[in-house]
Amino acid sequence: MCPGNENPTNNSPSQSSPRSASAPSASQPRTADGPHGSGSDSSGSPHVVAGQVGEAGDYDEVPVPIVVDNDSAIWHEDDTRDDDNASVFSDTDSAYESLAGSSRTGSITSSIYNYVYENGRRYHAYRSGQYVLPNDEAEQERLDLQHHIWRLLLHGGLYTAPLNIPAEESDAWGRPVGDFRILDLGTGTGIWAIDMAEEFPQASVFGIDLSPIQPDWVPPNCRFHVDDYEDDWTYREDEKFDYIHGRALSGTVSDWARFYRQVRTHLKPGGWCEMQEYDAWIFSDDDSFERAVWTKNWVEKLDEASQMYGKRLNVARFHKQWMIEAGFEDVQEKMFRIPIGPWAKDPHLKELGRYEQLHMQMSVASHTPALFSRVWHYTPQQCQVTIEGVKNEFRNPNLRLITQYRFIIGRSPGPP
Ligand SMILES: C[S@@+](CC[C@H](N)C(=O)[O-])C[C@H]1O[C@@H](n2cnc3c(N)ncnc32)[C@H](O)[C@@H]1O
Repeated sequence: MCPGNENPTNNSPSQSSPRSASAPSASQPRTADGPHGSGSDSSGSPHVVAGQVGEAGDYDEVPVPIVVDNDSAIWHEDDTRDDDNASVFSDTDSAYESLAGSSRTGSITSSIYNYVYENGRRYHAYRSGQYVLPNDEAEQERLDLQHHIWRLLLHGGLYTAPLNIPAEESDAWGRPVGDFRILDLGTGTGIWAIDMAEEFPQASVFGIDLSPIQPDWVPPNCRFHVDDYEDDWTYREDEKFDYIHGRALSGTVSDWARFYRQVRTHLKPGGWCEMQEYDAWIFSDDDSFERAVWTKNWVEKLDEASQMYGKRLNVARFHKQWMIEAGFEDVQEKMFRIPIGPWAKDPHLKELGRYEQLHMQMSVASHTPALFSRVWHYTPQQCQVTIEGVKNEFRNPNLRLITQYRFIIGRSPGPP
């Protein structure tokens, strides 16, 4: 473990990168000291939930206890916003509010589908370049697999905040009504938003993303918009939310203080924010992380590249403090550790580990191409060699590697 390591800010990629994807050696000097080493978190002592996954005793066999478009966002059009006010939507509407009448939607909707292709992967077109993970089929499969992992962690749950969603009521036509408003930031495939909308038909669930990769057929109380949450939010006073959720948004925000100010401002007083995040790092309780030379090199380079890109990936451990600093109340964090591979004795962890092993292999393939080619100038071949080297280690039964997931909640006292 290397707590407290500072990231050198004066290292240019060309100075510190071998630009070669030959196998990294265990003794290779670190080009970017990550905030963590193997083992645990350097932020102090993150709360590992007692009695839940992540407990030391759960693990088996010792040593491991375990094209640029800068148009403003389409739903800012007044003519579409009126529909947004409806608490629960008509099931004849399109899932894309933006398609329903804005004078600007013609050009914008076509441009957001002009995806950008690079290194054999497909990337978003709206605000092109802002986000470094692909949005193609392979990435969508990864997100949906990870959704399963997030839910497994919560034994089927979708959130940890103490939400008080009013019981379902119906209007004269038997349609559910309610004004509990939920916003899902960076909704991805929309799978979380859809599940929430199904579970709470009396709530209105809005999902926003840079990529229009959500399905058309969604519950009537679920809406998706192409939007950039790094913009100034323009929701009206009567559009405040009861619950704002973001999952796996690491590496998507350049100014988190501003992000949380906007979240707090657009929550009703007493409304909850919940961030579900993974650490963009790999851990071990034995020397596995040190022995996993491809993996170690990969996370170090990934972390440094994301900082150079201006949106650091490995920030999950900072969210609790950021929420406190933004003035949220009753801020709490739950942390879970998942083995990469089915090597834990505990059946729940074993199942999680099996899924995580598959997910992490997809994850390295998603996280590597853009950052390693744009920042470290890796060729596609070098990217591929790196990806395969790391994937091999994730499959290596002699390595006991671990990932960390967190759920961080805070209540808004009202606008700052
Ligand atoms: C890792 S994915 C997570 C998706 C989803 N929350 C989930 O857990 O399945 C991050 C998502 O954030 C979106 N995103 C990144 N930056 C964004 C921004 N500035 N505004 C809106 N969405 C953004 C990406 O397009 C991507 O779909």
